[in-house]
Amino acid sequence: MSEEKVYPVPPAFAAKAHINETQYRDMYQRSIDDPDGFWGQQAEAFISWYKPWDKVLDWDFNEPRIEWFGGAELNASYNCIDRHLDTRGDQTAIVWEGDDPAQDKCITYNELHREVCSFSNVLKKRGVRKGDRVCIYMPMIPEAAYAMLACARIGAVHSVVFGGFSAESIKDRILDSDCRVVITADEGVRGGKAVALKAHTDKALEGCPDVHTVVVVRRTGGHIQWHEERDVWLHEIAATVDANCEPEHMSAEDPLFILYTSGSTGKPKGVLHTTGGYLLYAAMTHQYVFDYQDGETYWCTADVGWITGHTYIVYGPLANGAKTLMFEGIPTWPDASRFWQVCDKHQVTTFYTAPTAIRALMREGEGPVKKTSRSSLRLLGTVGEPINPEAWEWYYHVVGDGRCPIVDTWWQTETGGHMITPLPGAIATKPGSATVPFFGVAPALVDNEGKLLEGEAEGNLVITRPWPAMMRTVYGDHKRFKETYFSTYPGMYFSGDGARRDKDGYYWITGRVDDVLNVSGHRLGTAELESALVLHDAVAEAAVVGYPHDIKGQGIYAYVTLVKGIEPTDALKTELIKLVRNEIGPIATIDVLQWAPALPKTRSGKIMRRILRKIAANEIDSLGDTSTLADPGVVDELLANRAHQ
Ligand code: PRX
Repeated sequence: MSEEKVYPVPPAFAAKAHINETQYRDMYQRSIDDPDGFWGQQAEAFISWYKPWDKVLDWDFNEPRIEWFGGAELNASYNCIDRHLDTRGDQTAIVWEGDDPAQDKCITYNELHREVCSFSNVLKKRGVRKGDRVCIYMPMIPEAAYAMLACARIGAVHSVVFGGFSAESIKDRILDSDCRVVITADEGVRGGKAVALKAHTDKALEGCPDVHTVVVVRRTGGHIQWHEERDVWLHEIAATVDANCEPEHMSAEDPLFILYTSGSTGKPKGVLHTTGGYLLYAAMTHQYVFDYQDGETYWCTADVGWITGHTYIVYGPLANGAKTLMFEGIPTWPDASRFWQVCDKHQVTTFYTAPTAIRALMREGEGPVKKTSRSSLRLLGTVGEPINPEAWEWYYHVVGDGRCPIVDTWWQTETGGHMITPLPGAIATKPGSATVPFFGVAPALVDNEGKLLEGEAEGNLVITRPWPAMMRTVYGDHKRFKETYFSTYPGMYFSGDGARRDKDGYYWITGRVDDVLNVSGHRLGTAELESALVLHDAVAEAAVVGYPHDIKGQGIYAYVTLVKGIEPTDALKTELIKLVRNEIGPIATIDVLQWAPALPKTRSGKIMRRILRKIAANEIDSLGDTSTLADPGVVDELLANRAHQ
């Protein structure tokens, strides 16, 4: 990394930006020296409150307990809609671009208000009350945002499940947070193909007896099963409810949503976010990190099923009265030029996507990019996984024509919003580095013993003090919250990521240091994948690791030991790969499956994943010490039978 390139902030960009370098330094310093003063001021500037707070912050990372804006009241839906109506009721809130390039529409703030009020009354009519959990399993259509905002309006807690998850995954999530109402669509459409959302929901609900209502949005009109006593069409029930719905007054610490994410052990956990701190941080990061200027069209390509979609398609932009683009399709349909065509069509100014998409498009060459203008673009962003410098450079030079700064934003489902990222008018960038902390964020590096590392260093990335959008608990399991995030290094939030800090204080995220994979920017726990594999009667044991993958960042490499007497066959391999996809979803497609007569274990029976990772990555010259293995011969056998990647 000695040849680090630095891209200075374009002076013209800095001149117009919300935050320049001096402002960044001053504001950052204040946010650390006087957090109460800093956040109190920001909270007044960005959010409309029904009732002010008694105390800005109360916290203890040992319990752990985190409370922002205690005593204050607000409503997230009011902040995202109602308060804009006087000044921008007729302006576009959501630009929707369909999977089919011939389909698009603009929804104004007035229309958004009508739709969300109506949806809120639909939920009320079906018995949803403040504090109830509602599962949303939707394609990328405006109704997904309406559903989220309707929950927020009436004080219900939404739990959005990504539309690519399987029936089994939906069931687990519904049961874990005891959702009684599910919102879905008949089908989704992606890349010209239908996704059977209602059918998946029906299957999931076979195991969820307490769900009494499924609100179905008609997207395609495709054939679906109908359960008369349970299912209602949104358009039919909406015709029977009032047009207006007053927002509930919510406490700042009332839950806003649950979002499930994979950890290194067990089933995905319900990350719980609350209202005041989350919304403030969403709005503020959206404004400062994307340097959002009034009237611009901002596009985040994530799915609303992920935290990126929650914070940077829905809550952040709408709280700021912005114009947010929602895209139903995929980057390569009808062809690899689609992203850039959409940028031209809607005059997109800010474009935010994942490295995996950039790498996939890079493979198609410059042609599909260069046949579009992209002259409206002024800022590019990336999120989800480390971006390799080659992809960064391509994004900068080919997509941005060397004109647009890139914000590489490091954050997590748990953090609610951006944590380490350049502010584009303030911070010079280096390809592959997420650069410096956002206001109020106190990152640090520790070694494996928890000792703080100073200056240039590489270690485990922790955050030493709270920020407003941090998760408050694991839904229904506060003990797990403490164990997962605050026990490895007591008194600090542990991210699960490794990072390096360079001589300029810039952070370079090196990836997960726990047993979590990042496949195409999607988090998957190795434990989940392994549990799915061992469901099969033929499987005695399984171990899953990640390995470097050109497009996906990480691929899934599974070692499978069969029950004695069962022969490994290609048919069985296919069956196992299918089993995992059915259990979790298509994102959990195993790339390489290797039969393992046995797994390398220590004498105490612990699987030595380090060795499995090395074999999967083809780093067989650096296997390290294998002398502590119970049976070192196992490694030779695995090496001899390495699967092809
Ligand atoms: O490993 C980091 C990686 O994605 C993880 C968080 O995943 P998730 O909760 O699904 O949220 C993704 C969207 C915020 C992190 O622990 N990650 C995310 N952004 C970056 C990143 N790694 C490097 N650079 C990033 N910009």
